[in-house]
Amino acid sequence: MDSIILGIETSCDETSVAVIKNGKYVLSNVISSQIDIHKKYGGVVPEVASRKHLEMIIGVIDLAIKEAGINKNDLTAIGVTNQPGLIGALLVGITAAKGLSISLKIPIIPVHHLRGHIYANLVEYEHELDDFPILALIVSGGHTSLAIWHNHLNIEVIGQTLDDAAGEAFDKIARKLGLDYPGGPEIEKYAKLGLKTDLVFPVAKLGKENYNFSFSGLKSSVINYINKTKAQGKDIIIEEVAFAVQDAIVSAVIGKVLLASKNYGIKKVVIGGGVTSNKYLLKRLKEEGQKINMTVYAPKGIYCTDNGVMIGSAAYYLNKYGIKGDLFLNAYSSGNIK
Ligand code: KG4
Ligand code: ZN
Repeated sequence: MDSIILGIETSCDETSVAVIKNGKYVLSNVISSQIDIHKKYGGVVPEVASRKHLEMIIGVIDLAIKEAGINKNDLTAIGVTNQPGLIGALLVGITAAKGLSISLKIPIIPVHHLRGHIYANLVEYEHELDDFPILALIVSGGHTSLAIWHNHLNIEVIGQTLDDAAGEAFDKIARKLGLDYPGGPEIEKYAKLGLKTDLVFPVAKLGKENYNFSFSGLKSSVINYINKTKAQGKDIIIEEVAFAVQDAIVSAVIGKVLLASKNYGIKKVVIGGGVTSNKYLLKRLKEEGQKINMTVYAPKGIYCTDNGVMIGSAAYYLNKYGIKGDLFLNAYSSGNIK
């Protein structure tokens, strides 16, 4: 029997629902983004996010089913993000999933959001990603984590950010530069490839033999630079600051991936999360990877940022291994990858 899974993602500012057949065929992927709403506040406002998810969720589910060309009754399971994320936002997806699970009498599978970002890769590279262990780098607005993907039931986080996530650093610095939310794509736009600048911002290294990240110091040095330059009556050249910020974040992230590849002897890395749609990051990671024979797998842009496909993909494999939730399923704002 075919597996036809509905993947629901509502952990932050995207209401997204997808239909996935047999773990890899994307029959539909509807994404309703709230970015334009949160833009005017310079970041995601949790209460506004949950309210908007509530408004959209039924319509997005119906559209995903319609675009997939299936009937509700064809669904065999529902995957839903239950952590980490904004509690009110997660609960909207979970409640919709429970309703469908009861009415269609099909299982509900809780999916950790970061597992989802990793599993976005399996939709495209299923045949090349079957020789575990594989490294996994997740860089988004809420997370910066490096993990060893041992198998479908064991993802071991070996490093994470001790303060701001990489995307959060992009967003906060962009705001300081007067750029729009989300800041990552804005900074990428200004940091034109090939731009020459002597400007360098430091990123804390946190010792040679660990895989943790810290970006709050970077944010402070950029803010100090902006204040000092303005105080001297000089102009801030946004392109140069953007380039130096992007370079600092990307170099810090890549450094830890290369270190882990060397220390663990792992030659494949999958990446995911909004920041991995940054072309400079992908280019540099591929270049550095080539030098040590490490292959880099990256989902296509639309699967880097939050989407229902990645949740449907992760749910497919969890379901295969008998992992299911029940109607007591709850939302958690934080928690290790399960
Ligand atoms: O994965 P995602 O959609 O949501 C979370 O789970 O957080 O990631 C959103 C984050 C934002 O911080 C945004 O600024 C960042 O990803 N981002 C980027 C780029 N596109 C999105 N950062 C750098 N370069 C980009 N092109
Ligand atoms: Zn995400």
